[in-house]
Amino acid sequence: MATAVLGLQWGDEGKGKLTHLLAREADMVVRFNGGPNAGHTVIDRGVKFGTHLVPAGVFYEGTTSVLASGMVIDLAILREEMEQVSAHLGSTPRILIAQNAHLILPYHRMLEELEGSGSHFGTTRRGIAPTYSDKAKKIGIRAGDLLRPGDLERRLEHRLTLLRRDWPEAEEIQALTAKELVRDQLELAEPFLSWIGDATTRIARALAEGDTVLFEGAQGTLLDVDHGTFPYVTSSSTTFAGLGNSIGIAVPDVAHRLGIAKAYQTRVGAGPFPTELTGIEGDALREKGGEYGVTTGRPRRCGWLDGVALHYAVRLNGVTSLALTKLDVLDELDEISVAVSYRSNGETIGRFPLAAEELAACEPVYEALPGWGVSTAGARAFEDLPAAAVTYIERIESVAGVPVEMISVGPEPEATIRREL
Ligand code: GDP
Ligand code: IMO
Ligand code: MG
Repeated sequence: MATAVLGLQWGDEGKGKLTHLLAREADMVVRFNGGPNAGHTVIDRGVKFGTHLVPAGVFYEGTTSVLASGMVIDLAILREEMEQVSAHLGSTPRILIAQNAHLILPYHRMLEELEGSGSHFGTTRRGIAPTYSDKAKKIGIRAGDLLRPGDLERRLEHRLTLLRRDWPEAEEIQALTAKELVRDQLELAEPFLSWIGDATTRIARALAEGDTVLFEGAQGTLLDVDHGTFPYVTSSSTTFAGLGNSIGIAVPDVAHRLGIAKAYQTRVGAGPFPTELTGIEGDALREKGGEYGVTTGRPRRCGWLDGVALHYAVRLNGVTSLALTKLDVLDELDEISVAVSYRSNGETIGRFPLAAEELAACEPVYEALPGWGVSTAGARAFEDLPAAAVTYIERIESVAGVPVEMISVGPEPEATIRREL
């Protein structure tokens, strides 16, 4: 049985919490996209972690954690994460790093600053776009290159020649040498070298043998490089289609595609956000929901749930059921709104516009639902929820077109309601 955990909004939906919970039952957990731009909050036996690269399966003995080919890996960050996790667990977890995954090198972060993309779009400044860009230009360095230091050095020499030519004034670029980069990367990678290998074959075998495999997405559907709100997106494929590409298995057999959606909407960084609440209502959601970035600490923009975007994300991913998170954040509100369509150029539209400029011109058409005014934080069964919360959940199901299978009412793993569908 395989499950994919997919973010349906602009990231930070609570994927980390749910992956960690579901990973208890998994033989293998695979992170399939992005890099340390992700920040997934996990509370493992009372200790809070913000994971950036390692999948949430890393916390369970007997689970293999895979960093798949579609990822971009910063070895310094991986090393730090592994040290923290190993200290917490008292042992080193079992990890497999896809040899085809690309490495984020020091010059990728420099490039992000030099090119100014960090300031234009408010990226996470982790060198994500320059690394994926090097992959597309076929001048990237892959994890497997670490196993052949001679080839690694040759590839780096070539990359540095281009960099020096392109950035004659940039002292930090001019100062780089292939020898030093090789030395530093190999030093960082030293504990991981034996983990680098053919992830595709291992994942295919696990699926074929009927193992419980969990795929953990990073970012969210609306940040997908092709299908998100381009150019205000990340540089990887965040959707179910991206999963297949990353792991290198055509149409992987993943019957359970769990879409994660917050009970409201957030976004970090620039880009259109029709249901954004810029006044005190947005501030209240941010404070109650603790909406500050795990990776950058930036305040997240907050607003009402966007049902139009949700419907789009469900269709794009072939989501089979939803996990609705942070329902407890809405507990104190008198009234809760959901956008059910948009107004654009005097017309009412139900589809999600594909151009960011078109989306920016959309006004949400809201449906207001009554709040419930009691705490849901202690609810552990669907029957524990107040009637108005049930009405809200049912409205989301009808807007999304798929059932809500899980409801999260707090950051801890226990604060979760699971429904038999
Ligand atoms: P991810 O990137 O999708 O894994 O999400 P993040 O970890 O970036 O952001 C989700 C935040 O909400 C984290 O601080 C979680 O601890 C927290 N969280 C997750 N689920 C719930 C929930 O149901 N209720 C509340 N109050 N917080 C939650
Ligand atoms: P998780 O996995 C929220 C956003 C950045 C920026 C844009 C591009 O925790 O949900 P990048 O550094 O990727 O080039 O930045 O994408 N972004 C995220 N927003 N959650 C994330 O990950 C994000 N990863 C990237 O804020 O707007
Ligand atoms: Mg996050």
